[in-house]
Amino acid sequence: MRLERNLGFDLQRATEAAALRSARWMGRGDKIEADQAAVDAMRFALETMDMDGIVVIGEGEKDEAPMLYIGEHVGNGNAPQVDIAVDPVEGTTLLAQGMPGAIAVVAAADRGSMFNPPGIVYMDKIAVGEQAKGCIDINAPVAENIANVARALNKDTDDITVVVLDRPRHADLIAQIRETGARIKHILHGDVAGSLMPSMAISPADILMGIGGAPESVISACAMKCTGGEIQCKLWPRNDAERQLAQKNGLDLNKVYTTDDLVSSDNVFFAATGITTGEFLKGVQYFGWGATTHSLVMRSASGTVRYIESRHRWDKLMRISGLPFDQR
Ligand code: FBP
Repeated sequence: MRLERNLGFDLQRATEAAALRSARWMGRGDKIEADQAAVDAMRFALETMDMDGIVVIGEGEKDEAPMLYIGEHVGNGNAPQVDIAVDPVEGTTLLAQGMPGAIAVVAAADRGSMFNPPGIVYMDKIAVGEQAKGCIDINAPVAENIANVARALNKDTDDITVVVLDRPRHADLIAQIRETGARIKHILHGDVAGSLMPSMAISPADILMGIGGAPESVISACAMKCTGGEIQCKLWPRNDAERQLAQKNGLDLNKVYTTDDLVSSDNVFFAATGITTGEFLKGVQYFGWGATTHSLVMRSASGTVRYIESRHRWDKLMRISGLPFDQR
């Protein structure tokens, strides 16, 4: 066995670039400009990578996104052939409002292995870390899942913390969680980070539950492949149009999408960089002639989870990239 190249390090350069450019927009109230800055920088970094990538989870369809659109080729065309999932700013509102937890994230996996939920915006989700893998069932009552996870973690139900997006659609879910005595950690945005929380060494939550973005489910599944955690999802159409779309595409609304259904490859690379400081990644710190970034780089084949703090200097970085990192 030889240890092949870890694509994660190249991906990390892309998430760093996205974070370095977009963190300039922190708290400025402009989601569009913040996202654009991240997209430009991430695309630039991905373009130079030694790979033949196709964006499967991206900024939207070709006609609605000028860059990193679904189907776009990224990389220099050399092997390996991979699917790419990007979210240059996961939590654009968090960034624009200057709130914690915005990250830049990208994942890569063998070509043809990522699920593409066409036009269905949301999925219902449940995710846990490795210790509780095999103990969840998205079709089971909330109380049963919480009890089973508590048992797996050797905790009381009252010790369990469930991370949930703060949305009116979760009123019933919240009531059911409260009924069990478990604690709730509400997040305003960013359920990729939320799905990772149960997998972290010092975990701020034990389970993620609730309805969030479908593309984010695939990115979370890539992360789970690396951490050993588990995610289960079901399509959650918002209206009849989405129900019909699912039917037209032969998608079963009762199907439980497992981690493997969302990304079937066992050769997955994941990188994320903090934009605004969150639970497990520090945000970008600028200091005049440069900045520091804090990233998470993971690889499923080895199971390695790396936290990498990087120092960047504008003079050299701008000479080799041409991107204006020192300004908005
Ligand atoms: P963006 O980064 O695209 O703004 O998404 C943030 C996010 O909170 C995701 O993490 C989550 O899956 C989704 O939005 C939830 O959607 P909504 O805000 O419509 O409930």
